[in-house]
Amino acid sequence: MQQPDFTVAGKTAIVTGASQGIGRAIAETLAASGADVAICSRAQERVDPVAEAIEAETDNRALAVECNVRDRDAVEALVEATVEEFGGVDILVNNAGGEFVAPFEEISENGWNAIVDLNLNGTVHCTQVAGKVMRENGGGCIVNLSSVNGQHAAPGESHYGAAKAAIIRLTETLSVEWAPHEIRVNCVAPGLIPTPGVAETLGIEPDDVPPREETDRRVGYPEEIADVVQFLASPAASFVTGETVTAKGVPKPGNSFEAGIE
Ligand SMILES: NC(=O)c1ccc[n+]([C@@H]2O[C@H](COP(=O)([O-])OP(=O)(O)OC[C@H]3O[C@@H](n4cnc5c(N)ncnc54)[C@H](OP(=O)(O)O)[C@@H]3O)[C@@H](O)[C@H]2O)c1
Repeated sequence: MQQPDFTVAGKTAIVTGASQGIGRAIAETLAASGADVAICSRAQERVDPVAEAIEAETDNRALAVECNVRDRDAVEALVEATVEEFGGVDILVNNAGGEFVAPFEEISENGWNAIVDLNLNGTVHCTQVAGKVMRENGGGCIVNLSSVNGQHAAPGESHYGAAKAAIIRLTETLSVEWAPHEIRVNCVAPGLIPTPGVAETLGIEPDDVPPREETDRRVGYPEEIADVVQFLASPAASFVTGETVTAKGVPKPGNSFEAGIE
């Protein structure tokens, strides 16, 4: 019997926001699984060492590109550089994102727009530009990063939650619109993963993350999200599109309320 293929061997992937945290883990995981990767962040000097590490530790190539996903021209340049270097784009992982926590009534117009622009419009720019290449080349696969905060209400997260919820619906819509182009579009909704971004949001030192004793679920690891992304990008997920996979761990023992509602 033929074994399922959970790898991304021979593919080319773009991973946005890959200088640290979940994006870095995704880039490293996809490269270790056989993909050439184009990775970006807003600063060349932050993404260069990641590409160097990937090339040192895997048999695959890594292209580091400075690209702010909020800037459409920069996204065009990222995709162009990827096609020039690797010949196409098979996988796009829209990981770049972030937030600050504030009550709705205290969020300024600028603050609201910044969070929606980064999380939602950044995803839109990359998807439209890379999606064009995928349609021209006969198909591909897109994995978006949403959040449990896009699925359930959390105080202080109105802007981020709205943007992440919109990403789930965008995923569903594109999975239908682009099905004729052989493009699968899926989404991952992580629970709390300790990253430099989370440390900054919580106003604590990175070493103090995760505050495991303060959470009602086991806190995850970036690699546990990367594994889900790899599955969704692999041939093993060929019959999966338009879905959001929630990866939020299990409630801690004794948390009967959480356990009861799951
Ligand atoms: N960690 C969690 O608990 C969690 C939970 C649910 C969902 N998520 C989602 O998972 C994704 C990654 O989260 P994370 O915790 O790993 O974040 P993080 O530690 O803050 O890292 C964010 C990454 O995105 C890059 N970035 C930020 N703004 C960018 C922009 N405008 N253009 C291009 N790159 C940009 C950052 O690099 P530079 O600063 O070098 O630009 C960095 O590499 C995000 O979409 C986040 O919303 C995270």
